[in-house]
Amino acid sequence: MSSEYWNNVYKTKSEKEVSWFQETPATSLKLIEDLKLSQECSIIDIGGGESRLVDELLDQHYKDITVLDISEVSLEKVKLRLKNKSKGVKLVSSDVIKFTPSQQFDLWHDRAAFHFLTDINDIRKYVQLASASVKTGGFIIISTFSKTGPDKCSGLPISKYSHDELIELFSTHFKNINYLSETHETPWSSKQDFVYCTFQKIDHTIF
Ligand SMILES: C[S@@+](CC[C@H](N)C(=O)[O-])C[C@H]1O[C@@H](n2cnc3c(N)ncnc32)[C@H](O)[C@@H]1O
Repeated sequence: MSSEYWNNVYKTKSEKEVSWFQETPATSLKLIEDLKLSQECSIIDIGGGESRLVDELLDQHYKDITVLDISEVSLEKVKLRLKNKSKGVKLVSSDVIKFTPSQQFDLWHDRAAFHFLTDINDIRKYVQLASASVKTGGFIIISTFSKTGPDKCSGLPISKYSHDELIELFSTHFKNINYLSETHETPWSSKQDFVYCTFQKIDHTIF
């Protein structure tokens, strides 16, 4: 979907008027905490939108944070919200499929962006990009609607996954180290079932 579509979402809706809003991204934070990363590590939030994950990571003194989103409007809103603190954050406006990172990351986090890819070629490109963009020994946390989740997100068709399907999809370069299910409550109290998977990039040279 185009950047215009997403820019229009962020121009016309406030933070709490979108179904995916979280006051605190508690599950992502817990999964990140479990990884016991150093504060020097590099973290990218893919399709971060207006998520407050970046605020929390800054509060925890992480020093190398990138937020990527197809919508520059969402990133502008993050910049305004973070005020001075935004100087330490790399805000990248790009379709993830066309993203050419200038560094490798210790952690790639994606809540509810990957599931907008419905074309198998785009899905494969994303998996390849994530594999190339994460350091060996580094991590990916992916969260999507589960099989019992909604058929659409923000009015768009999405791909729904089970834990096993995500594990299979990323299995060439990653081993699964954690997974869980979560029911997200939207600001208008409807329920959305999510899956979360944490993966670690395998060092192929040791095999
Ligand atoms: C459902 S929202 C989730 C936002 C955020 N991750 C959160 O949890 O609050 C999906 C986000 O993915 C972004 N997005 C959708 N398709 C994308 C793409 N192909 N590349 C980069 N970002 C994309 C949208 O602009 C939007 O901010």
